[in-house]
Order: sequence, then structure tokens, then C-alpha cells
Amino acid sequence: KKVIVINGPNLNLLGIREKNIYGSQDFLSYFEDLKSSFVDTQLHYFQSNHEGAIIDKLHEIGFSFDGIVLNAGAYTHTSLAIGDAIAAITTPVVEVHISNVHKREEFRHGSYLAKNCVGVICGFGLNSYRLGIQSFL
Ligand code: DQA
Repeated sequence: KKVIVINGPNLNLLGIREKNIYGSQDFLSYFEDLKSSFVDTQLHYFQSNHEGAIIDKLHEIGFSFDGIVLNAGAYTHTSLAIGDAIAAITTPVVEVHISNVHKREEFRHGSYLAKNCVGVICGFGLNSYRLGIQSFL
């Protein structure tokens, strides 16, 4: 199967950024761990800090991949356009978050993406991504 992990804004700083919330491992080293746990899966990775670039990527792969694990970062709570892009494509999307957004500020409780996603996984640290991938296998 072909699955892609898409990370949105500020997630390129994992391991550096607010370690008390997001942990101390950088995503690329975690992605290597993921690849070795899912050897039979074609795992791809894309990260962008730009809303339009995330939408372009969803359009590009959203009709051919088997699954998309999307952590849109703060765009989750603001982006009607990413929500619409998820509705427009045929590949199923799982929304993931490292932190439990429901334990945090009120403005992180809403999502413009969730209603167009298969499901939402949050609060399991980087393992949220692992659970997201597993959901497609
Ligand atoms: C996040 C939660 C968002 O509220 C925040 O803006 C992020 C990361 C998470 O993975 O916990 O950038 O998506």
C-alpha cells in the first residue's frame, strides 16, 4: 500500500519546538523508525509551512494513494481550504495530532478538516502517526 504522511506548519521544528508538548525527537528520525516498522508499505513524507503547498500536494497524490495521514498543525483550526481539498480528493485522510488538542486552549478544539476525514487521532505523541498509518493497512 501507498501511504503518505503530510506535516503542516512548524512541524519541521519537531525536536526543537516546545519539547514539553511535542517531545524531543525530530520527525525525520522518527520517520526512519516508521519506515522500518512498515516495511511492506510504501511510505512517503511531505512537509510544508504553506497552506497552498499542502493543498497542491493533496491534489497531486489524492487520487492514487491508499491513505493520507495529515497533521495540518494550526491550519487544522483555521483552514476551510484544506478541509475542502480533503473533500475534493478520493484518497481517505486521517487527521492526526501529537498533542491532545482537547486538553489545550479552546481555539485548538475545533477542526475544519475532521468532518471530511475518516477519523481523528490525537494525544499519543509521535505514535499518533503510527496509529494513523495502521488504520490504512
Ligand atoms: C498539533 C496541534 C495544533 O494545535 C498545533 O497548532 C500544532 C501541532 C499537534 O500535532 O499536536 O502545530 O497539530
